[in-house]
Amino acid sequence: NNRTLLIAGNWKMNNDVQAAATLADELVAALDGVDNGVEVLVCPPTIDLTTVAAKLDGSAIKLGAQNVYWEAAGAYTGESSCDMLKSAGCTYCIIGHSERRDYFHETDEDQNKKAKALVAAGLVPVFCCGEPLEVREAGTYVEHVVAQVKAGLEGLEIADPAQLVVAYEPIWAIGTGMTATADDAQEVCAAVREALADLFGAELASGIRVLYGGSAKPGNIAELTAKPDVDGALVGGASLKAADFSQMVVKS
Ligand code: G3H
Repeated sequence: NNRTLLIAGNWKMNNDVQAAATLADELVAALDGVDNGVEVLVCPPTIDLTTVAAKLDGSAIKLGAQNVYWEAAGAYTGESSCDMLKSAGCTYCIIGHSERRDYFHETDEDQNKKAKALVAAGLVPVFCCGEPLEVREAGTYVEHVVAQVKAGLEGLEIADPAQLVVAYEPIWAIGTGMTATADDAQEVCAAVREALADLFGAELASGIRVLYGGSAKPGNIAELTAKPDVDGALVGGASLKAADFSQMVVKS
């Protein structure tokens, strides 16, 4: 396929401003001279964005946020708008992470509004989906994930496949050390692509990157990205160490 692999780091709620600056410096140094065609993205906490943006300036590493609010401005205490993220140097934004859905009660409808606001602002959503363990065990995980994709992205208008990224993250594999097998990842990523074809047409869907996330690390990234429908990874824990994260870029 013609899709550019994407290795994306989700720092979650880790690293204060000083630690973020140090990690960004380490990443720039570790990836200096690495030019294997893999796109690299880091998504620090909101409070760290401008500091990390300054550190990444001049490198090929892209910057993303972990959350956004869909309104343009106003009385929404604690939130950040698309334009604010852009002004801080972001080109991407994670939405719909299972931690946001579970701990902060975000719905599919919320993700739909966020996705539309981001695309309208020229930012690329990294739309997360994935099933809990009981759904995996019940065997209905493909239907579960396809329903999330359709509800979250319905009515979204894109003209170019680079305007959207989807990350399949089985919840039972997040932060547990229990990685899905590469075949498990491929099965659901392929189903996600079929759902994207229903939403956007086969041609656009064939160009949209579908990532895997859940205990991805240097030791399993090559096997995952070798699968035809796995176009990279959304990396949590292993993105917090420059040596591990840069190894994942090199091995993809
Ligand atoms: O967004 C990243 C995922 O939640 C994966 O986290 O690599 O620590 O399992 P993890």
